Amino acid sequence: MNKKIVIYPGTFDPVTYGHIDVIERASLLFDEVIVSIAVSSSKKTLFTTGERMQMLRKITGKYKNVKVDSFEGLLVKYAESKNASAIVRGLRAISDFEYELQMALTNRKLAEKITTVFMMPNEKYSYLNSTLVREIAEFGGDLSNFVPALVADKLRKKFR
Ligand code: COA
Repeated sequence: MNKKIVIYPGTFDPVTYGHIDVIERASLLFDEVIVSIAVSSSKKTLFTTGERMQMLRKITGKYKNVKVDSFEGLLVKYAESKNASAIVRGLRAISDFEYELQMALTNRKLAEKITTVFMMPNEKYSYLNSTLVREIAEFGGDLSNFVPALVADKLRKKFR
């Protein structure tokens, strides 16, 4: 039987407990999860693609069926190149819905065979995003509820 492969795309600048929650849930449902960093020239990031990949690799190392990668260009083309049958996205709140629906339907028009699935991360992370985490780091706040220690260390070093 074919392996069920899912892509989890995002910017991950940096990865937070909310993303990790989605990764863990996806790893229980699919044979293989490819967490893939979207390399975009329009989104200015704090961490380089290499730094983000390194953090993700360390954090997801304990999940045997999770890989970390990056991609440029259209997500569905990348998903096809990886033989993925699905894309997973986290839905944190109603406010995510419109944007996610638009992306999912557009991606379906582009590649009918690739299905987008949504997962609700644990409600304790429903308010979280990477911008907030970067801001807390910039002003020296406690990051322990939002990101793993290794990410908190890298954030502190960036703003030192
Ligand atoms: N927990 C915590 N935060 C989460 C989260 C979760 N479960 N899910 C999303 N977020 C946050 C992210 O941290 C990010 O926060 P920020 O804006 O403060 O940095 C924000 O939500 C956006 O999420 P992200 O998952 O990084 O999505 P994105 O909008 O930056 O990127 C892509 C979406 C990469 C999937 C999309 O742009 C894409 O597919 N690009 C490729 C080009 C393409 O195919 N375009 C056509 C698409 S129809």
